[in-house]
Amino acid sequence: MTTARPTTTIMSKFILIAGLCLTFGSLGLSSRLVCYFTNWSQYRPGSGKFMPSNIEPNLCTHLIYAFAGINEANELSTIEWNDDALYKSFNGLKQRNPNLKTLLAVGGWNFGTQKFTTAVATQVNRNTFIQSSVKLLRKYGFDGLDLDWEYPAARGSPVEDQQRFTLLCKELLQAYHAEGTATGRPRLLVSAAVAAGKGTIDAGYEIGEMAKYLDFISVMTYDFHGTWESVTGHNSPLYNGTHDTGDSVFLNTDFAMRYWRDKGTPVEKLNMGFATYGRSFRLLTRSSQVGAPTSGPAAAGGFTREAGFWSYYEICTFLEGASVQLIEDQKVPYAFKQNEWVGYDNKESFQTKVRYLKENGFGGAFVWTLDLDDFNGQFCGQGNYPLISHLRSLLAVETPQHLVNPSTNPPQPAAAVPSSSNIPDNFCARRAGGIYAKPDAPGSFYSCENGITWIMHCPANLVFQDSCKCCNWP
Ligand SMILES: *[C@@H]1O[C@H](CO)[C@@H](O)[C@H](O)[C@H]1NC(C)=O
Ligand SMILES: *[C@@H]1O[C@H](CO)[C@@H](O)[C@H](O)[C@H]1NC(C)=O
Repeated sequence: MTTARPTTTIMSKFILIAGLCLTFGSLGLSSRLVCYFTNWSQYRPGSGKFMPSNIEPNLCTHLIYAFAGINEANELSTIEWNDDALYKSFNGLKQRNPNLKTLLAVGGWNFGTQKFTTAVATQVNRNTFIQSSVKLLRKYGFDGLDLDWEYPAARGSPVEDQQRFTLLCKELLQAYHAEGTATGRPRLLVSAAVAAGKGTIDAGYEIGEMAKYLDFISVMTYDFHGTWESVTGHNSPLYNGTHDTGDSVFLNTDFAMRYWRDKGTPVEKLNMGFATYGRSFRLLTRSSQVGAPTSGPAAAGGFTREAGFWSYYEICTFLEGASVQLIEDQKVPYAFKQNEWVGYDNKESFQTKVRYLKENGFGGAFVWTLDLDDFNGQFCGQGNYPLISHLRSLLAVETPQHLVNPSTNPPQPAAAVPSSSNIPDNFCARRAGGIYAKPDAPGSFYSCENGITWIMHCPANLVFQDSCKCCNWP
């Protein structure tokens, strides 16, 4: 063990000793933060245009490229003319964060179900798909595959697709395990993005069985309400609300997460969805509360150009002069101006949701999507990636207030880079990235990245040792 290179020693000790909370190493996160990139955001105009080069490699623990497809021969395949180049720059981000994991998502909202149905229909087809996925993922340096079949055994699909989806997950895992063993490379990951609607869940998944074969499961806890309905409703409420009647009591994050858990998914495999966009409506009357009558979507956003859908950065522009209300029971905000209404998420609602996530022990968060946050900080005046970086800091190991004593901080240089607003400590300002002892708290240490201070805690009974930059027995 002592012969390993220093960085390896740090990592393996963290993993071996710390296990629980430090497996995400230098990211300083106690849980997964999975972020989606979409192949179509490259076509947005002006400041909305988003390329892999716009991704901050240290923001998330996992990045997922959406979407690849399935060709006529049942093989995993690229879709865009320039996917080849984009896959390369996407995976190139790992040079700037060696702990980053990348996955390729197959399917998606527009993809339909037919190609999945065919690809899983027989053992031969499944095998073709699985082997082609190994080839494509390894060719481009992805670390895994994310299944975005929306949705197995949905209306018009064979009911057998429910069991066949489980089989696909099982055979993928087996094949990836075999390939990893044969080549000596880390096994490819298998994950899935799954429905949050009760009816779709009931029809589509053998939850307990399929969960065994997936590394993580991302529950798409958004798109609960939108302009397909004729009254205002929130895109991603945390809880049901007083206006919910009948089956609409199921249309919320809390219900979906509990349902996936109670039907047999281990909590640590579940990722809760966080939306960096909102859904808009046009109000029909002067009434503007949740459940108010609507006549369709508000105007399309200038960058996302899709009626009923606004990115967080477009919402920031809308908020100027708008009235903002919190939906008390659902714990999420909406805003309206003249006859336009949007239900969205902000830093406060992310904070409430992360508290909920932690209270329930869910293994992680995922974000739909990177390109819908104010990624270059031009619109909201809250810095780059305001929502996702806030989410990231909320997921980081919590810093008990008594450990943050400003009087013990080193003197601050006049032009210090401010530390993240959530972490009231400027230790890392002007320090190189890395791990440092925290002299006033032996069970803790600093992790510095880009001048931002993260206070990390060793697992119970361990102390930080500067010599090995690791947590160890005292
Ligand atoms: C991106 O991927 C999806 C697959 O879901 C595909 O339908 C689409 O054509 C791709 N490109 C764009 C520009 O949307
Ligand atoms: C609706 O919300 C109430 C209050 O939070 C909760 O007790 C109830 O279980 C929820 N119902 C569903 C179906 O989630």
